[in-house]
Amino acid sequence: MKISVIGCGYLGAVHAAAMASVGHDVIGVDLDSAKINALSAGRSPIYEPGLPELLTAGIETGRLKFSTDLADARDAHIHFIAVGTPQLQNAGGADLAYVDSAITSLLAHLSDGDVVVGKSTVPVGTAETFREAVEARGARLVWNPEFLREGFAVKDTIEPDRLVYGVADGDTTSVEKLNEVYATAIEAGSPVIVSDFATAELVKVAANAFLATKISFINAMAEIAEVTGADVTKLADAIGHDKRIGRKFLNAGVGFGGGCLPKDIRAFTARAEELGRGESVAFLKEVDAINLRRRERVVELVTEELGGSVFQKKVAVLGLAFKPNSDDVRDSPALDVAVRLNGLGANVVATDPQAMKNARQLHPQLVYGPTDEALADADAVVVVTEWPEYKDLDPAAVHRVVRTPIVVDARNCLDADSWAAAGWEYAGLGRQVKNGREAT
Ligand code: UGA
Repeated sequence: MKISVIGCGYLGAVHAAAMASVGHDVIGVDLDSAKINALSAGRSPIYEPGLPELLTAGIETGRLKFSTDLADARDAHIHFIAVGTPQLQNAGGADLAYVDSAITSLLAHLSDGDVVVGKSTVPVGTAETFREAVEARGARLVWNPEFLREGFAVKDTIEPDRLVYGVADGDTTSVEKLNEVYATAIEAGSPVIVSDFATAELVKVAANAFLATKISFINAMAEIAEVTGADVTKLADAIGHDKRIGRKFLNAGVGFGGGCLPKDIRAFTARAEELGRGESVAFLKEVDAINLRRRERVVELVTEELGGSVFQKKVAVLGLAFKPNSDDVRDSPALDVAVRLNGLGANVVATDPQAMKNARQLHPQLVYGPTDEALADADAVVVVTEWPEYKDLDPAAVHRVVRTPIVVDARNCLDADSWAAAGWEYAGLGRQVKNGREAT
């Protein structure tokens, strides 16, 4: 099928490449010419495992093209809207300016029978506001939320765990067309759920709200564990054995960040308040507050471990991305911790396998360097993103290069016993400090 993807960021670039990989003719459109030049040359503007290979393959077959000119979407009949919906400045709601501009500009290029497919995360009620304008062009509107995770985006797009189509009443034509777009995934077993617009829009924010709540729940347990001597990781393992609860997304630590969960729960709250149902999701404010408190707790732990002040102490901050396998630092708890420690006068040297460039753009005041530079003569080491290379660090080898063997494991991703056995003072979140320094 002939497809256009409007917006080539974390979502759109992957969607365009994935659709080409399953045999469609795809044109990706974005206003950012640097991004389009990179993509056209087969270079991924973001770090996403598997994406460069998919881009190169798509471009070589001639099925994947990119352009800054929306008029190039004219030949396509299915148009995916994949632009961002960031948080409004100084408010919790979603900024719909990019969605509005993408759909409105696309109208002039639509032909009879085209389908406009919204993938962007929008407040419930948004699709309905565009329906009339799209239908006036003889086209149809569908809302088809995206559930990909950064770091696994290629797999999640090609083999989605579900497909949700929000359609106008009785619009079986769009359902058939989308089934054709996603034929490979459907044949491989991805279930399709067809609903109205509002349900489809809500599925997306409800899913992210649930995930955020699950993380904040376990982080709230970590807060209780910290004052009672309990161990939150054992608690998570134990309750996670109950299949109704499940162990996934129960990792206590510095909390959630990124371009989705934080802004989505705030936008959901704002929308619910507009609808006069603020109380229904009032708990999401608590979810947000618990999450943000964890960042403070990490800074507090480092301060406690350093004897009450971080001033002029060298702190190695391992990790800047909001999670491993990503270079995304949007609302990253890791970057936030580095900035806070730096603000308190610590000599922070921050490192990350992929996210240093993006972090430097946002916070040029921080000192960045490779892992060995960060660790050399450090008074404390803080692991804030659980990259495999940090999880696999040899505690004995790292012990030899730091000044003081203090490690704060803000992701509970290190083996506390082996770090303590190697002579480290180990402090995790929601667990007791293991003092291996006294033994050596
Ligand atoms: C999230 C959702 O998982 C996707 O389904 C959704 O499509 C996407 O948002 C989106 O709306 O576009 P993503 O932001 O890529 O995906 O990241 P997650 O894997 O959900 O992780 C979010 C944050 O939670 C990360 O900072 C991660 O470190 C943190 N987290 C995750 C925890 O602190 N503990 C956990 O147990 C799991």
